[in-house]
Amino acid sequence: MTLSVEKDIASQATSKPKPANTDIHTDTSQLDTTSAPKEIAPKKIGIPKEIVAGERRVAATPETAKKLQKLGFDVLVERTAGEAAKFSDAAYQSAGCTLVETAHELWSQADIILKVQPPTDHPNGSHEADLLSPDQSLISFIWPAQNSALVDRLSSRQATVLAMDAVPRISRAQKMDALSSMANIAGYRAVIEAANHFGRFFTGQITAAGKVPPCKVMVIGAGVAGLAAIGAAKSLGAIVRAFDTRPVVKEQVESMGAEFLELSFEEDGTGQGGYAKTMSPEFIAAEMALFAQQAKDVDIIVTTALIPGKRAPLLITQEMVDSMKPGSVIVDMAAEQGGNCAVTKPGEVYVYNNVTLVGITDFPSRMASQSSQLYGTNLYHLLSDMGGSEGYQIDFADEAVRGALITHGGEITWPAPRPEQPPTPAVLPKPAIEQPKTLEKPASPTGNRLVNVLGFGALACAIVAIGLSAPPSFLSHFTVFILACFVGWQVIWNVSPSLHTPLMSVTNAISGIIIIGGLLQIQGAASGGLNTTGVLGAIAILVGTINISGGFLVTQRMLKMFRK
Ligand code: NAI
Repeated sequence: MTLSVEKDIASQATSKPKPANTDIHTDTSQLDTTSAPKEIAPKKIGIPKEIVAGERRVAATPETAKKLQKLGFDVLVERTAGEAAKFSDAAYQSAGCTLVETAHELWSQADIILKVQPPTDHPNGSHEADLLSPDQSLISFIWPAQNSALVDRLSSRQATVLAMDAVPRISRAQKMDALSSMANIAGYRAVIEAANHFGRFFTGQITAAGKVPPCKVMVIGAGVAGLAAIGAAKSLGAIVRAFDTRPVVKEQVESMGAEFLELSFEEDGTGQGGYAKTMSPEFIAAEMALFAQQAKDVDIIVTTALIPGKRAPLLITQEMVDSMKPGSVIVDMAAEQGGNCAVTKPGEVYVYNNVTLVGITDFPSRMASQSSQLYGTNLYHLLSDMGGSEGYQIDFADEAVRGALITHGGEITWPAPRPEQPPTPAVLPKPAIEQPKTLEKPASPTGNRLVNVLGFGALACAIVAIGLSAPPSFLSHFTVFILACFVGWQVIWNVSPSLHTPLMSVTNAISGIIIIGGLLQIQGAASGGLNTTGVLGAIAILVGTINISGGFLVTQRMLKMFRK
């Protein structure tokens, strides 16, 4: 291969990964943060067949392969790479991909290898990492914190390696965030697995054969997986409760129709970058007391509690499992990180004391078609962000790329330096304002008051004059009119905007009455020719009609806003 990558890293850059702790970061000052595009644009993307046992996903589907081609790449696919995810070789071929017979051929021809699982021992005898050459790039899950030996091995190959699990959770990188797209699928699948092991309906039913109570589901941890689990359980008709240490998720939980369980304990679990932080032992004790209560009541518990880089917090004890109703199910999504439940067996589904414990660790792989599609799309967005084929570059100034970069030019570049925080604005001393010795007095409100008093005085005189001169029949109507103006003004002015729609219905009804009144007046006046009553009746009809049609018009526009 003839590609040559311009080295971006100064020789003194960190060469050893830090221990498994995402809080530790390398020093940015040691890295040259500019990078030139490759001299020769990478042209070929290789999609190898996944070799980890049980992995059904593939890094590109025929659909995402087409998108990669639009970025200027040729896509090579190892024969049967998509078979387990239900994508045939023929489908790849008709999507314009080239089929390659062996892994060796693929790794030697491609400029960029896209994979799902971290490189591992290949059945053909070689290690996938050793198939990489210095001018190649590899993008896959790497889990650098847990795989430091692999990271060393990859850096010794001088290749550029990006980890999809290290893409930072920032708004701009959401479309490349494979952890979120996989967690979303996993949360959904966790509920489907729970339903599979639960011997009852999720939704409550009243049938001729009897009443079926709805299933109660508790979700612990309302991150990406937790929210997906809430959505799935809710759509199956269950009563869903959820708990999280980050109070910000309360609104999201409630907007999905679930109940947010709360503790009378003031501690915010919000950590950095949208993730959680470790809670105090007192908080954990308080939440465990809550879970102990809930365990006796709910039928299904889905646990997703996680603090990145740490062992999953132990939140469901053996006693809590013992207290659950027979037939209950616990899905421990954190099984791989040690589990949130004391009796979970990672990778296993087994029954303990009449409660089914689901410790499955490969939920996304169990929905391989869907997860390959989303993962492939995440990869496409990352490559598009990196400039596609023509503009391909490792841009150290790109927070998403820098976060995911594990090795480059023989250096270990993970973990990425923490982005600089914007400087806190200094509290400036208040400028000393020289007070003028004699201040100009503001205009006195007395003038305004005088105008008001005169106005009210004139109004009062007019009313008294009308009272003395007008006939008694007019006076009774006039009193009702004045009272209606006053009460109507107060009612309409004080109604909160959220009640404007019901208010509009009421005013429409009143306008209807006014129109009928106006019609009766006109009818009465018609016999005696044009007179004041007739004119007033006509004005009343006109104004009432404007109000009604205007009301319908506004309602129509408001309804349009809510229509999809
Ligand atoms: P996330 O970081 O988005 O969510 C974790 C949530 O747990 C956060 O909202 C956090 O506030 C909450 N949390 C942390 N400590 C807690 C505590 N003591 N009590 C209550 N809540 C607490 O993580 P994400 O992406 O939703 O993943 C959740 C879990 O699912 C992780 O353990 C992850 O490894 C696992 N997962 C498993 C898969 C599988 O195939 N088994 C696939 C994808 C994710």
